[in-house]
Amino acid sequence: MKRTLLLLLTAAMLIALASCGGQGQPAPTPEPAPTQGEEPAPSDAPQAGGGKTLVAYYSATHNTQAVAETIAQALGADTFVITPAQPYTDDDLDWTDRDSRVSREHDDSALQTVELENPTPENWADYDTVFVGYPIWWGNASWVVSSFVSANDFTGKTVIPFCTSSSSGLGESGALLAQTAGTGNWLEGQRFRSGVAAEDVQAWLEELNL
Ligand SMILES: Cc1cc2nc3c(=O)[nH]c(=O)nc-3n(C[C@H](O)[C@H](O)[C@H](O)COP(=O)(O)O)c2cc1C
Repeated sequence: MKRTLLLLLTAAMLIALASCGGQGQPAPTPEPAPTQGEEPAPSDAPQAGGGKTLVAYYSATHNTQAVAETIAQALGADTFVITPAQPYTDDDLDWTDRDSRVSREHDDSALQTVELENPTPENWADYDTVFVGYPIWWGNASWVVSSFVSANDFTGKTVIPFCTSSSSGLGESGALLAQTAGTGNWLEGQRFRSGVAAEDVQAWLEELNL
């Protein structure tokens, strides 16, 4: 008798559970339905502006480097460090010494063609937009960057100069580099003070609306 009762009770419990239909369980999350024509973005998808972007820069004392890295990070761009075959030492950069390397080069334009470790970035043809960064030397672009610019073909590329300085403005530095290049669509460019905040660089990038 007890055994029959137990069987009846178990059957009743099973029926009750089945009728609950899993209430109280989290609803299964449906897989998002694929939208027609929508493909997952490949990792090497073109960046804003429709193509690949490179930030090429020369920096003797890291101020321009900091700006270049902010630009590259914000845009997911590649970087290329313009490197003189014979790097400038602190003594070389002493513009207060009339006999330092920079002073001698400044005084003699024939010395301003600087040999570079590697004048052309890898996959140069793939870049549609190139930022060109440099320090201001005597009111103009460091001639290290001029050597880079004259060594490369900018045809079909949008070029955006940027520089850092203690107090001088962009001046004609960007326009003169464009003239040296002779190719490419050079935009006006931007000067930043040495040690500029990353937010100021980012604000400029937003204005560019690439
Ligand atoms: C040789 C030399 C010349 C410079 N001439 C100027 C100048 O004419 N005007 C100015 O505002 N700053 C001048 N500076 C300061 C640099 O432009 C400034 O420190 C810049 O941020 C350096 O960038 P970098 O650290 O990327 O090399 C000069 C610095 C050097 C080494």
